[in-house]
Amino acid sequence: MTNPDSSNDRIDALIEKLTLQEKIDLVHGDHDPAELATGYLPGNDRVGVPSLSLVDGPMGVRAVTATAFPASIALAAAWDSDLAREQGEALGTEVLGADQDVLLAPGFNIIRAPQCGRSFEYYSEDPHLSSRLAVGTIESVQSAGAMATAKHYVANNQEHQRHAVSAEVDERTLREIYLPAFEAAVKEADVASVMASYNRINGTYATEHERLLTDVLKDEWGFDGFVVSDWWATTDAVGAARGGLDLDMPGVPVHEWQENESRIHRAIGALPDAAPKDKLAALAAKPWLPDGANPNLFEGSVFEDPLREAVKGGKVPETALDEKIARTLSQMERFGMFDDEQPEGSVNDPAHETVARRVAERGTVLLQNDGVLPLDEEPASIAVIGPNADKAKIGGGGSSEVDPTDAISPLDGIRERTDGETTVSFERGVERIEDPHDEDEGPFGLPVPDAIDDALSGDDEGPSIDAAARVAESADVAVVVVQDNASESEDRSLWLPNEQDQLVAAVADAAEKTVVVARTAGPVRMPWAGDVDAIVETWYPGQEDGHVTASVLFGDVDPSGRLPVTFARRTDHYPASTEGQYPGIELEAEYSEGVFVGYRHFDAEDIEPLFPFGHGLSYTDFEYDDVTVEAGDGPEATVEVTVENVGDRDGHEVVQAYLGQDDPSVERPPKELAAFESVELAAGESKTVTLEIEERDFAYYDTEESAWTVEDGDYTVSVGRSSRDIVDTDTVSVEDLTVVE
Ligand code: GLC
Repeated sequence: MTNPDSSNDRIDALIEKLTLQEKIDLVHGDHDPAELATGYLPGNDRVGVPSLSLVDGPMGVRAVTATAFPASIALAAAWDSDLAREQGEALGTEVLGADQDVLLAPGFNIIRAPQCGRSFEYYSEDPHLSSRLAVGTIESVQSAGAMATAKHYVANNQEHQRHAVSAEVDERTLREIYLPAFEAAVKEADVASVMASYNRINGTYATEHERLLTDVLKDEWGFDGFVVSDWWATTDAVGAARGGLDLDMPGVPVHEWQENESRIHRAIGALPDAAPKDKLAALAAKPWLPDGANPNLFEGSVFEDPLREAVKGGKVPETALDEKIARTLSQMERFGMFDDEQPEGSVNDPAHETVARRVAERGTVLLQNDGVLPLDEEPASIAVIGPNADKAKIGGGGSSEVDPTDAISPLDGIRERTDGETTVSFERGVERIEDPHDEDEGPFGLPVPDAIDDALSGDDEGPSIDAAARVAESADVAVVVVQDNASESEDRSLWLPNEQDQLVAAVADAAEKTVVVARTAGPVRMPWAGDVDAIVETWYPGQEDGHVTASVLFGDVDPSGRLPVTFARRTDHYPASTEGQYPGIELEAEYSEGVFVGYRHFDAEDIEPLFPFGHGLSYTDFEYDDVTVEAGDGPEATVEVTVENVGDRDGHEVVQAYLGQDDPSVERPPKELAAFESVELAAGESKTVTLEIEERDFAYYDTEESAWTVEDGDYTVSVGRSSRDIVDTDTVSVEDLTVVE
């Protein structure tokens, strides 16, 4: 066990006054009387401990009406940690404005398998890009006065059987791919809390993983915050207590949890206490709860009675309880909660709407453009097509859902932007896709089936691809808005749902010009890519969807996003492409691809992606001149590039520097992202960009020495605008083998 900074006499003195039961009450959640928090830790009036409210999520504050920021993958696509800081500041301010203390975000699990249902909530397939965005977000959420939570620790890379699957991953891969962003969150951003994930790692539940929670996180990295469980993820009181879990959440059974979206569980929770609620809830959950999932969804916290018995029985020393409480209370003190010094904050601040729009615009990736975009000569007629084009794609399903005060759809955004000068027609083309933000709830809060909804809206014909093709044919340009519908707790198909592929093909066949706007959680298959004139990826743009779509299509802003994930031509081109790797067999997923995740795999296997990592077009053109690479004293290098905007429009370029060891003694990817810089350039402007490549970027993790090691020899620095569009390379020689401290 490790004690946080014991110089905190004030906290120690408080803990000394606590009875055993009072200590037990400070290591697990309970009901929030305000019915707002996602997780609530009651305080202790007797000794003067305030309560602690924890709230989701990465795209905005849950449970209150709040600003709906774009998906985390959209922020990642902007490749700009300063922008992450801007959004983090706004997010932290909204947390406090909603009278909450801890934001249960950012989530930044590596997008190992693009089918992961929560890809929209994460950043990238690359640990360096994920680290920079995680640090930027955490530092700014916390500078705004709220605590941030680094989640989900660790290797929680799929939703399928997430409560039970074991990530079978070797130490070097953990260190080089899955741990770095968490390490940066602790060492650089001093994150207040880390959330232990549902899954197992090499057979041990994350909530009980002593090596990862105590040896690595607390002892090696010096984490002095608190480890909070994912909700109902704690399975064993002694294992978790001794392993290093500090706070079990939510502490109440699923059928009694006020945030519960399940109507069945809410109904069970409302039954008289004499009813066998836990058994009924378990029965109700049977269809969706995989075998072997943790058992305590339906009972109270294992950190209540079971832990108290374990302490009384000597299985868990009471000093372990003291340390857990000290970690939580010292963070509460750090953020001014004992001295009533928390900033007021504000939720739904109009300034945050501007931030949400800017992040979504900067994260929009122009994947393909034959010149049809931007639509700056406003066309006489536009056909807007798509099953949900009349609805903003605010986010995905699950705990990250946010309820904004308002939102604008692509259709309305385009109508508003053309303000009556252009004829804008609309056809769904295919059945509407049920969306987690559908508020068309009918009586008793039940959704109105689409067929009834369409009949009521007079659309008794129902949507048809033919009708869509007809309006496309008669318009100057057809804009097809397609989307997937990802959600937490289930993985996603890479094929667009509801025959949207057929819809795009039919429109492309009929229309003069076809632009596809894709609103997806991550990579999708695009069999029609060769048949359309332009493809714009807006991910889940949040409440500003329509404004973002219109401003990009009409060139009011330059689409400056770059892909944080690889889009493959075929599903079996992705690295985790066997069943044993993903989703695993008998609750074990073999991470046998090792460090070859994402573009690392595509490069090593020389597979041509549909759109590569780092790819993104602009409405202007950039030229790179005077690329220089200066070697530092040790294994370091400084890259300088002069970038010129040689086009006639302002724009953003993202300069990327990759590093690859020429002749490694271990298998290493051909190149790995080592540094990047987003630079804004007016038409005709040029700037010199400096990128620092640091010692750790040269290193691999030597599991025999348990050390980051830089081998002597030559390393190639590749400078480019994507992982496959390298403008220049140079070589840096490392004289001596170096162990990185
Ligand atoms: C969920 C998620 C986690 C979220 C928590 C509270 O299951 O995995 O990201 O913060 O529970 O909703």
